Formats: sequence, structure tokens, C-alpha cells
Amino acid sequence: MQKIIAELEEKRRQARLGGGQKRIDTQHGKGKLTARERLDVLLDPGSFEEYDMFVTHRATDFGMAETIIPGDGVVTGWGTIDGRLTYVFSQDFTVFGGSLSETHAKKICKIMDLAMQNGAPVIGLNDSGGARIQEGVASLGGYADVFWRNVQASGAVPQISVIMGPCAGGAVYSPAMTDFIYMVKDTSYMFVTGPDVVKTVTNESVTQEELGGASTHTKISSVADAAFDNDIETLLEVRRLFGYLPLAAGHKPPRLPSIDPIDRVDMSLDTIIPDSANKPYDMREVIEKIADEGEFLELQKEHAGNILVGFIRLDGETIGVVANQPLVLAGCLDINASKKAARFIRFCDSFEIPILTFVDVPGFLPGVAQEYGGIIKHGAKLLFAYAEATVPLVTVITRKAYGGAYDVMASKHIKADVNYAWPSAEIAVMGAKGATEILYRSELGDKDKIAQRTAEYEARFANPFVAAERGFIDDVIMPHGTRRRVIRAFATLKHKQSSMPKKKHDNIPL
Ligand code: HXC
Repeated sequence: MQKIIAELEEKRRQARLGGGQKRIDTQHGKGKLTARERLDVLLDPGSFEEYDMFVTHRATDFGMAETIIPGDGVVTGWGTIDGRLTYVFSQDFTVFGGSLSETHAKKICKIMDLAMQNGAPVIGLNDSGGARIQEGVASLGGYADVFWRNVQASGAVPQISVIMGPCAGGAVYSPAMTDFIYMVKDTSYMFVTGPDVVKTVTNESVTQEELGGASTHTKISSVADAAFDNDIETLLEVRRLFGYLPLAAGHKPPRLPSIDPIDRVDMSLDTIIPDSANKPYDMREVIEKIADEGEFLELQKEHAGNILVGFIRLDGETIGVVANQPLVLAGCLDINASKKAARFIRFCDSFEIPILTFVDVPGFLPGVAQEYGGIIKHGAKLLFAYAEATVPLVTVITRKAYGGAYDVMASKHIKADVNYAWPSAEIAVMGAKGATEILYRSELGDKDKIAQRTAEYEARFANPFVAAERGFIDDVIMPHGTRRRVIRAFATLKHKQSSMPKKKHDNIPL
């Protein structure tokens, strides 16, 4: 027995070495952790249970029969984060460059199936040269098996992708179908075709980093939700994100006991709205002042800054926040903002996370580029996402809520549950100046008259009371008491019952 145990130990030692010390040193030399070291940071100490450590590839071509490495380039299994179950895979770049073989894919599929069966998230740490070149179509089939499961799992269990090295070619489509993508700055990249192919086909010269680095995907393409300086920081941030999420659809996110009093008032909110309607203020400040302990986990921070999305806790419960940001483009809705918020709302709705919306929106961004780019279709995504959401929806209008954007931003009409406005709210078809210029075009030459007309329009419509008279606004609330009012509103919605008509699925304008 001792001998067998010793043999097992030796086999395990071999497997843990992956591609060998030299390649581990190279990995470290690039400032990257190994697949196993990453899992040590991600998961609670001692919680990782590995599966399929002894799986090997079945390829024989190109001398592969002589190159067998146990585990086949991916470490898979389950562990816990703050005591909560999660399934994980971590690609091992030291083994055939983390490339995906038929068996490597089978290992990933196994833990995805278990995650769906047992109701737990999947976290994938990606660091791979793509399809195992020696295996050809078997490897492509493996990718497709993973893709198919990504779709099955979507909306059933949260899926988080962490890009910690190369992720290129069709391989990018697995992370792309997961809920969140985090990247590591300077050491990770994602692209469908690399710089060399780009140069050949389009004659554009671009570096790997420019084409698909973390900065590109967090700022320009919005493929990634966030990026951090190194492996450790990134994995710790994944742990933080995980803490806001439920384990699976139909489960509640964890409630974290908060020492922040429910009825905490913040008098500074009473003066946060500037005197002039054209002056911006930082909506992020409003969110932080209302959140438990002032903590806001913001996603897509670098992209479409005119809308903010992310998670806060209120009385310990996870809440998704969507908020216009007057600091950028005056908080207008444009194509990017609409897509960003729509996707976030759909995630929250899939996983029963209530949504708090802060509104200060002068309308949709005008312009040829926006129209040619399809603002009609993309703006409709946001409207659609809100209107199909059945989770508790609480809305606070802080200042402008003009035109179609008023309807879109979780208005009562598209079935938000509780709609509040601050006394500074202006709910109207448009701003007073624009309205006057249309209504009294013939008087435009007379400055005094126009000023008087503008003042009249402002007095009538630049307030929340016209909407409140109709019950479109449930109450006009004191800014300083917003935290208490919003927490109480969500409390009434804890057992909200709402459903969509029976159908296969909807047809959101993609
Ligand atoms: C097999 C691979 C591999 C692959 C890398 N390796 N990619 N082995 N299949 N796809 C091996 C290398 O031979 C090398 O082995 C080790 O991994 C490390 O690779 P290096 O090139 O030394 O590392 P580095 O310089 O860091 O470059 C990393 C890299 C490069 C940029 C990823 O390796 C690369 O370009 N690989 C090929 C990428 C690719 O074209 N993949 C197929 C894409 S198509 P040794 O033994 O020397 O350590 C695809 C389709 C998916 O993925 C379709 C899904 C539908």
C-alpha cells in the first residue's frame, strides 16, 4: 500500500509540474502566475478540489504520442470563494501553450456540466495559444462543445472569464458569451485575427496590445468589463465581484451584514445639484453616498462614461445600479451607453438582482454618426431590457428626464415599481429653451419675450410635480433621505410577483 501511495504522490507531483520548471520560470519571467498559483489566489485557502488531473491527450500525429503531460494543459475542479461554491478552470500555458485539445475541452465541459447541474458559477482563467495545432478539427470540435455549454449556462449560472494571457481566434467567443470579462493589463490580449493577418488583409500596422490589449477592450470595444495591473489584483477583484452574485438563477445573492444604518441621511445630497441646469455634477458621488459603506463596484468604467453601471449593497443586499452621468456628454444616451446599460440590466434580470436607476438625462445624443450607427436599434435595446425586466425596479430622477429618454430610463410606464423624484427634477418633453424656440418660433427675434416664454415653460414643466400629479412619480423625496427611501422601497418589493407572457424567447433588437 505504501508503494502505491508513494506512486500516487509522484504522479501528482508530475502533474503539478505541468510543462516543467523551465516553462514555469518563463511564465514567471513574464510577470504571470502559473495556472495553479492563480487558483490559490482566487479560491479560499485549501478549498480547491481538482478533477481530471491525470487526463492526457489522445493525439499521435506530429510526435504527440511521445509528449504526454498529465492534465493536458488545463487545471479544473471546484473550490469556494468566501465559503461559496464555484467551478473553475485554469489554462496552463506551460503545457503546449495552454492550447485546447479534445481532452482539454472535455475537462472544461465536465466542470461546466457540473456547475449547471449543481447550481454554481463557472470561472474560467484563460491563458492559451488557441486550438491545439497538432489536433486539427478535434480541437475545433472541442471549442464548439464549450461554446454550446456557454449558451446553455447563460442565465442559468453566472459565468466569469478572466483573460490572463493570449486569447485569440475563435477562442475569444467562449469568454464573449460569458457574463463578465476581466483582463490583466499588459499581459493579456484578445483578438479574432492577430496583427500579422490584419497587416496582410487590411494593410494596417498595429501591435498586439493596440489591437486587443486590456486598454483597447475596456475603453474602445467594451469587450472587457474591467482590467487590473497584475494577476493577483485581477483575481482578488474577481473574488470581490463574485461576492455580489447569486450562485445560480433563482438563488439570492449573499446578504452581507452592514453596519451602515438604513436611515443614514446625507445632507450633502441636498446641495449636490448645481444651480444651473447646464452645470454637471458627479453621479458617482450620489451612488456612493447612498450605498452601504459607500462601496460601488463599477463595471465598464472606461467605456461609455455617460452611463454608470455596477453593483452596490443596500441594507446588505446586492443591487444593480444604472445611472446617467452628467459629467460625460451631459448624461445623454448614445449607442454605447444604451448597449452597456442594456446588457447589465439583462444580467441583473436573469439573476434576480433588483435594479436602482438614477436619472439625469437630457435625451438621446443627436447626430449623423449616431443615426448612421443605429441609435434607433441600440437605444431600443435599453428600452427593451428595462421593459422586459421583472426584478424590482426603483427609479430616482435627480434632475433632467427629458423626452424619450424619460420613458426609457425605468419610467413608471414601462413598469418600474417605485418612482421617486428629487425636488430638482425636471420631467418634460425637452428643456425649456428648446421647447420655447419651437413653440414660439415667430417670436425668436424678441429676446425679452423669449426669455419670458422660457421662464413660463420652466415654471410649468421644469419640476417633478406635473408628473407627480399624474402618479407617474410616486413621491417627491428629499435628496438627503434617498438611502432610507430607496431601501424601504426595495423592502416592499422583496416578494414581487411578475412574469412575462409565455413564449419561447423574446426578440430583443440585436
Ligand atoms: C499547440 C502551441 C500552440 C497551439 C503555442 N503552443 N500555441 N502548441 N497548439 N495553438 C506551444 C508552442 O509550440 C510552445 O511550445 C509553447 O506553446 C509556448 O509558445 P511560444 O510561442 O513559445 O510562446 P509565446 O512566444 O509567448 O507566444 C504565444 C503565442 C504563440 C502568441 C500564443 O505561441 C502563437 O502564436 N501560437 C499559435 C497561436 C495560433 O495560431 N493558434 C491557433 C489559433 S486558431 P514549446 O514546446 O516550445 O514550449 C484557433 C481556432 C479556434 O485557436 C477556433 C475555435 C472555433
